[in-house]
Amino acid sequence: MSQPIYILGIESSCDDTSAAIIRDREILSNITANQQVHQVYGGVVPELASRAHQQNILPVIDAALKSAKIERRDLSAIAYTKGPGLLGSLMVGGAFARSMAQALEIPLYGVHHMEAHILAHCIQEDGVQNPDFPFLCLTVSGGHTQIVRVDSPRSFQLLGETIDDAAGEAFDKAAKIMGLPYPGGPEIDKLAQEGDPKSFSFGKPRIEGLDFSFSGLKTSFLYTIQKGQKEQADFVQKNQADLAASLQKSIIDILIEKLNKASVQTGIKEIAIAGGVSANSGLRDALLNNGRKKGWNCYIPPMRYCTDNGAMIAITGYFMHQNGELDKGEELSKARWGI
Ligand code: KG4
Ligand code: ZN
Repeated sequence: MSQPIYILGIESSCDDTSAAIIRDREILSNITANQQVHQVYGGVVPELASRAHQQNILPVIDAALKSAKIERRDLSAIAYTKGPGLLGSLMVGGAFARSMAQALEIPLYGVHHMEAHILAHCIQEDGVQNPDFPFLCLTVSGGHTQIVRVDSPRSFQLLGETIDDAAGEAFDKAAKIMGLPYPGGPEIDKLAQEGDPKSFSFGKPRIEGLDFSFSGLKTSFLYTIQKGQKEQADFVQKNQADLAASLQKSIIDILIEKLNKASVQTGIKEIAIAGGVSANSGLRDALLNNGRKKGWNCYIPPMRYCTDNGAMIAITGYFMHQNGELDKGEELSKARWGI
């Protein structure tokens, strides 16, 4: 039997500093430090994020090694998020990863953050089923909304993406309009569970093909609130749950409609969701209900792999290691990077 491969995965693309250790395709540890510092600003402040990564990165990596019960010298390779994301945040993780790999004289892999969200589905874990290739993945996060065809762990084809706001952004912006704390997605999710999704209706985008648009929905949501507040000063407070439920349903309807279209176009019925918004309880239910009707095999990531995490970087590093996709020491980080 061949020796197991141990990879350290480091994620620092936005406001979470996370490190994980993988042994082949099995996660041994996955430790994340969240940054509370942004909450009072109602969004991520890039400068503060970079500083917090610098403070968190060493303790997070140490904790990941300790929890996996391995030493630095046991590592076969290091994988880090090369992009896309906030440049300052990416560079903290990248510089640390590159120095550590050089000191340990082991290979380094620069991982694409959105590929990593998708490949979290390939982590081997008891009770978790991995999708067969080819599969379709709807990746929905704070910065991206994409439908990707995945033919192998190293072959991705972008079928459609948002032309303006991302789905997570739509949640966060609507939450901000309602005066809810950042990030707004989980807040809307919670409120929506008590509300009636048919209470309000918002304008639907008319976008060709498999692309998405959410900016019209945000405007329609804002107008509904402004109109309501003219008649009733405490309109938002009185209708919080119904507004959240109706908004959430509108976002989910847009996502599911395009997934249906992509499945028909490609003939693929292995369907996965990934990224921060895949934590949304309404989206998870809607995918399963719709999938049952369409005869899909649906794959929903465990909650710990929905939002940003080191485990997804480690599993992607594992496949890049198998494929010999070594970092060539060029660009350390890429703020913008297509899949
Ligand atoms: O993937 P992620 O952690 O970071 C990015 O790469 O952007 O995604 C963060 C996004 C935020 O917009 C957040 O509001 C959203 O995911 N999110 C949710 C939920 N949990 C996180 N949106 C809706 N419902 C949730 N339960
Ligand atoms: Zn992400």
